[in-house]
Amino acid sequence: MSILYGKDILRTDTLSDKELELILSTAARFESELGAKGRLDNMAGQVMATLFFEPSTRTRLSFESAMLRLGGGVITVADPKTSSAAKGESLADTARTVAGYADVIVMRHPQKGSAQEAADAVEVPVINAGDGAGQHPTQALLDVYTIQKEKGSLEGLTVTLAGDLKHGRTVHSLVYLLVRFGVRFLFVSPPSLAMPAQITADLRKTGANVSESTDLAAAMRESDIAYMTRIQRERFADPAEYERLKGSYVIDMAMVRQAKPGVVILHPLPRVDEIATQVDAYEGAAYFRQTANGVFIRMALLALVTGRD
Ligand code: NCD
Repeated sequence: MSILYGKDILRTDTLSDKELELILSTAARFESELGAKGRLDNMAGQVMATLFFEPSTRTRLSFESAMLRLGGGVITVADPKTSSAAKGESLADTARTVAGYADVIVMRHPQKGSAQEAADAVEVPVINAGDGAGQHPTQALLDVYTIQKEKGSLEGLTVTLAGDLKHGRTVHSLVYLLVRFGVRFLFVSPPSLAMPAQITADLRKTGANVSESTDLAAAMRESDIAYMTRIQRERFADPAEYERLKGSYVIDMAMVRQAKPGVVILHPLPRVDEIATQVDAYEGAAYFRQTANGVFIRMALLALVTGRD
């Protein structure tokens, strides 16, 4: 059994280097096996439950696609208004119930810490598909997998993370993986949406080179990777503040032409207006390749935590 058998995947800072390596190599193996065979049967007879209490297109569907491509079955609550949570059931009780129906639970919930709460209530592995403004570890894993494929290696790259670094859970998870490869970080955001101080402190403690600015064009001139994020409207207490900050950063072709040659542009999606659609034709625009990679990473995670790798 793998070192991840029976484990929850809740955050990236507690993943060991060995676990990270295993997830990436298992994803690569599944990608090539799937290319050769079309469908695998590692998870035949197993059931995955997806419990999504917040909107999702990519994360839920790519988890479901991953499970189906591994020969497993899927049950889902995609609309919380139709589940007993709407009657006031606690998260722990919902999780305990679902654990009776499934071998692995994938959950997204608006509250930070919710995935941990569900995991504490059940024996089956819980995978965090986003807990409020907390973490989104499976997205970060597929981001790293994508950078590896696009650039060959992550060692020594300069990576810009731009947009809503305060509320963006994907960047909160991603930095704890990138820091292991000695990347240089350029954080670009409006001052009020800066990366949480605890996270920058964690990074600097490891000796990482972290700079913060508000100038995206300048950062792009030095960057191998530009990771854009959406201003997270649903996390703002004050709608006027969102209106003031939306559209703060937009990558267009003029900016790409001034950027470091070969810059790879990533985005967890959905995009609102952070990347002009004219950029989609640029060969370094990797965001749709990035979403496709999500299936291989999620296949790896499902198989590893259930011992079906
Ligand atoms: C992200 C999320 O849900 O945090 N989306 C995703 O899973 N690809 C990013 C976002 O919503 O902005």
